[in-house]
Amino acid sequence: MEPTESKNRFVDSVILTQFGEYDSIKVKKSLLEPDCCDKFEIEVKVTYWGVNFADIYLRKGLIPNIKLPSVIGLECIGVVENIGSEVQLFTKGQRVLCYSGTGGLYRSVVIIHQKYCFLVPDEIEDEIAVALPANYLTAYFSLFHIGNLREGEKVLVHSCAGGVGWAITQLAKTLNNVTVVGTASNSKHEEVRKNGVTHVVNSNNYQEELRSNKITSEYVFDVIIDNIGGHNIDISLSLLNTFGRVVVIGANHIISGEKKLNFLQFMKSWWNTKNIRVVDLIINNWIVAGLNLANLIENTPEKVHDVMNIIFEMCINGKIKPRIDSVYNINEVTDAMKKLANRKNIGKVIIKI
Ligand SMILES: NC(=O)c1ccc[n+]([C@@H]2O[C@H](COP(=O)([O-])OP(=O)(O)OC[C@H]3O[C@@H](n4cnc5c(N)ncnc54)[C@H](OP(=O)(O)O)[C@@H]3O)[C@@H](O)[C@H]2O)c1
Repeated sequence: MEPTESKNRFVDSVILTQFGEYDSIKVKKSLLEPDCCDKFEIEVKVTYWGVNFADIYLRKGLIPNIKLPSVIGLECIGVVENIGSEVQLFTKGQRVLCYSGTGGLYRSVVIIHQKYCFLVPDEIEDEIAVALPANYLTAYFSLFHIGNLREGEKVLVHSCAGGVGWAITQLAKTLNNVTVVGTASNSKHEEVRKNGVTHVVNSNNYQEELRSNKITSEYVFDVIIDNIGGHNIDISLSLLNTFGRVVVIGANHIISGEKKLNFLQFMKSWWNTKNIRVVDLIINNWIVAGLNLANLIENTPEKVHDVMNIIFEMCINGKIKPRIDSVYNINEVTDAMKKLANRKNIGKVIIKI
C-alpha cells in the first residue's frame, strides 16, 4: 500500500549526521515510516531512553554497517500503540522495553520488530526498567553463560561503577562467597563498595594498585570481564587463575582522549588478538571469549527473552537493583553521553522524553 500524505508523522529523533564529534548529533523531528506496522512490528510511544557506552562507539563510526544520516540509540521503554497483523507477543496499551544493537531507538515513537521487545511486569516502573536490558543482559550472559561463574570464585570487573559494572557486581553477589574486585575512578569507590564490591582500585592504574596492595597474590581471578580491550587483554591474561575465563565485552580504551580515529587506527586498536596464543591457552587451561548482545538478540531472541524474564524476576524480588545516575531531557542527549565518556556516572544515565 502506498503511504498517504496524511499518515506522515514527524517525531523527535536523535540523528547522527556524520561520524565524529558531538556536534554531529542533532535532535530534531524526523519522518516516522508511515506504513506501521509490518506484520511482526509494533509501534511504541516512548517514555525513556537508556544511554549506553555503545552510543559513543556509534558516533565515532565503530559499529559496522551504519548508513548516515542515522537515528541512534539502543534502548527505550514505552507503551504499545499499534501492532502488526502477525504480532502475538504484545497488545496495545502494554508497556514494553526495546533493545536494538544497531541503534534507531532515540525517537519519541519507534516502530520495531517484536523480537527486540520485552513485556515489562507491572511491578517495575519505567525509570528502573529502562536500565535493565543492555546492562543486565550483558552482565548476565557474560558472567553466567560465558564466564560460568561459580560459588567461591573471584571476579574482576572493570568500570564497576558503570551501568554494566554495577549489574555485574550485583549478579556476581547472588552466588555464595564470590569475591568481586572492581576498577573505578577514585571518587566512586565508596558507592561501589556499598553495591557489593569487595575491593576497589583506581581504573587508571589498576594493575599497579593490584600489585602494590598485594591483591594479585591474594586474588588471582577466575573470571575477568574485560571492557577495556586492546592492550588490556594481555593484562587480563596475566591475572588469570588456572581454568580462568576472560570475557571481552568492550573496547573503552578506544575513546581515550576522544581522539578521532581513522579506519586503520581503529582496526589496530580494537581487540588485540595478536597476543593471544593458542598454546598459552592450552598450557594454562584458559578461556578467552567474547560477547555481543546485539548479535545474540538478532540470532537467538528466545534465549535473550528467557534471560530477560529471569532479570525481571530478580528485580521484582529485590535481588538486583539498578542505580539511576541521572535523568536528562531530550535536548541534553550529548550531555548525557558525555557523562559516560568523561567518567562521571555511577550507574545508568537515562533520558526522559
Ligand atoms: N558486548 C556487548 O554486547 C556489550 C553490551 C553492553 C555494553 N557493553 C560494554 O560494556 C561496557 C560498559 O558499558 P556501559 O554502557 O555500562 O558504560 P559505563 O560503564 O557506564 O561507561 C562509563 C564508564 O566507563 C569508564 N570509562 C570511560 N571512558 C573510559 C576510557 N577511555 N577507558 C576506560 N574506561 C573508561 C568510566 O568509569 P571509571 O572512570 O570509573 O573507570 C565511565 O564512568 C562498555 O565497554 C560497553 O561497550 C558491551
